Amino acid sequence: MENKYQDFYELPKAWQGFLQACQSCKECELFQTRNQVVVFRGNLEANLMLIGEGPGAEEDRLGKPFVGRSGKLLDSLLTAQEFTENDYHICNIVKCRPPGNRAPTPDEANACKKLLAAQFSLVKPKIIVLIGATAYKYFTNTNSPISQVRGQWIKKGDYHIMPTFHPAYLLRNPKKRIDMWQDFVMVREKMEDLDLIREKSKPFQMDEWA
Ligand code: URA
Repeated sequence: MENKYQDFYELPKAWQGFLQACQSCKECELFQTRNQVVVFRGNLEANLMLIGEGPGAEEDRLGKPFVGRSGKLLDSLLTAQEFTENDYHICNIVKCRPPGNRAPTPDEANACKKLLAAQFSLVKPKIIVLIGATAYKYFTNTNSPISQVRGQWIKKGDYHIMPTFHPAYLLRNPKKRIDMWQDFVMVREKMEDLDLIREKSKPFQMDEWA
């Protein structure tokens, strides 16, 4: 557990119930092949929620989202922009690994929706970043290419949604790093404008992104 909670039994009861529901979930076939249910890392009460596609092999092994190659690239971007794990809550559209790193099916995403909705109402984020085409498709129920919708705010109720590329795509297309960097500049600036995060200590410098 991160932050002020040292272990499961210190968590608010609602979180305990939610995590138990995740661990025992058998709503889709993915429970048969998972090693671990991957729920989140970061802050339970973050203003910023980052939502990816689903756990890969490393995430399934370690029980945390975005801890493989993609996660390391994402973390280095977040660090370069002075986000710490205390500033965000990171999770996925599905909590169990789709075998062979395929994208989750509509049935799997749908089966996991109740848990993501519960997580959403516990965290109560103000800003949501949809990481990659799959997260965008399932979260918004629309099918536009991510290259067309990234970098533009979507306002829904009292929260703001920013779709962006998936870091796995950047690993294959390094020239697109500038786009994802700029999307996160917009996120950071929006959070600062809304007083959801402290001000950055120095100007944005993309060469700090390892
Ligand atoms: N890719 C994702 O979309 N989520 C993860 O947790 C890891 C890789």
